[in-house]
Amino acid sequence: MENSKKYLLLLTLLVSVFSIYNFTIYTSKSDYGTIHLSKKAINGENIWLKNNCNSCHQLYGLGGYLGPDLTNIYSTKGKGEVYIKAFIESGVKAMPKFDLSEKEKDDLVQFLKEADQTGYYPNIDANIKPNGWVSIKYKNQNYENK
Ligand code: HEC
Repeated sequence: MENSKKYLLLLTLLVSVFSIYNFTIYTSKSDYGTIHLSKKAINGENIWLKNNCNSCHQLYGLGGYLGPDLTNIYSTKGKGEVYIKAFIESGVKAMPKFDLSEKEKDDLVQFLKEADQTGYYPNIDANIKPNGWVSIKYKNQNYENK
């Protein structure tokens, strides 16, 4: 076979492999499941955003850094609903108090509760396997790597 045909064949092969690769990557579904917040929690998320809780607090490490991360505040021993509400109602040194209705506070707590159920932060049990994959601790079976 003459050289130019060889190059053409090689180019066709590379373009095909590249196309298949892209098709596979962009059409395969992720293993992370879908997060479905309840209506109450979505309402709570809006209250969270409207009151700028995220300007001082983080979820999964993202947010402002004046206050602590609240990803797992709901399930932390000794904290939880009453504790969260107490902070909202009275504030502390650097945290202002928020004048929210009972329903708004309930929704906000529901948001933090459902956010908490999605995982752990920081994920201290993360483990780098010899093959390079990282295995982390999951809370919800939907997010388990298969
Ligand atoms: C101006 C910054 C600021 C804003 C805005 C803010 N916080 Fe805070 N928050 C803090 C700081 C700082 C602390 C830590 C206070 C301390 O322990 O002395 C804190 C503590 C907390 C705690 C206790 C955390 C723990 O681990 O013990 C909760 C719960 C909390 N905030 C909820 C909220 C919610 C909900 C909102 C929104 C409605 C909010 N905060 C808005 C600054 C803020």
